[in-house]
Amino acid sequence: MSEIKSPTTRIETSAAKVYEAVRAAQQAGETVGLVPTMGALHQGHLSLVDASLAECDRTVVSIFVNPTQFAPGEDLENYPRPLDRDLELLMQRGCWLVFAPPVEEVFREGHETSVHVGSVALPWEGESRPDHFGGVATVVLKLFQIVPADRAYFGQKDYQQSLVIRQMVADLNVPVEIRVCPIVRESDGLAMSSRNAYLSPEERRQASGLWQALKLAETLVAEGETSVAAITEKMKPVLQHVEVEYIAVLREGTVCEVETITEAAVVAIAARVGKTRLIDNLKIQSRKK
Ligand code: PAF
Repeated sequence: MSEIKSPTTRIETSAAKVYEAVRAAQQAGETVGLVPTMGALHQGHLSLVDASLAECDRTVVSIFVNPTQFAPGEDLENYPRPLDRDLELLMQRGCWLVFAPPVEEVFREGHETSVHVGSVALPWEGESRPDHFGGVATVVLKLFQIVPADRAYFGQKDYQQSLVIRQMVADLNVPVEIRVCPIVRESDGLAMSSRNAYLSPEERRQASGLWQALKLAETLVAEGETSVAAITEKMKPVLQHVEVEYIAVLREGTVCEVETITEAAVVAIAARVGKTRLIDNLKIQSRKK
């Protein structure tokens, strides 16, 4: 695909042309927001686009299914790629530029360098998917080089990913402001995710248990419960129809577990529903604060 033009949205596959367009806008005094995505856009992605449209003069969305963040046997080949629908949504939104490169434009032949992320990448998601965050950090850094945006927008659903990206940006002095936007949910509370498309109607019903368990944790804390052991014990029956990988109660802004909730915490869940792995989380405010 070469350059396609719509009246308002420019679609590019060339990294060099995107860089040139972004720098030209910035030299003209405009701010640029980047929303990195792997496509299969849903309301969660569109809320990031809206945040960028509200805060920046120009919004760039990248659509790139990054092979380096998938382990062998994960869903790289089957990952949904409804590019025409995604472009339509972004054009309707008034997005300025969409960068939708082929794999070889991002990872050229002979590519050897990658970002090694430290301890923030090791537990939870990092344990289940050991090379995942290295792949994410590498591609996000590359996207920041191609699109030297003023701000970049990520979703709170990928809580640990947002910490990994903040750490990478701070450690490597990347001059971009990271914004993390709230989770967007279906009417029954299921966090929006491109992978929800894999769920059968029955699995879709079972998946809403993640949100019910998170809300239960929130209610228990609001009622004065501070013991994480007691809270997670009560969450388990609500999650009986899914295969729980972990329930973690973390000090907000970290991947460190707490035993009692005395300050803001994030309750994070990973679970398999059939063959689909889902993650979700909820920030919980201690009653003491
Ligand atoms: O969150 C995602 O969709 C991906 O991990 C990202 C940030 C676009 C990198 O491929």
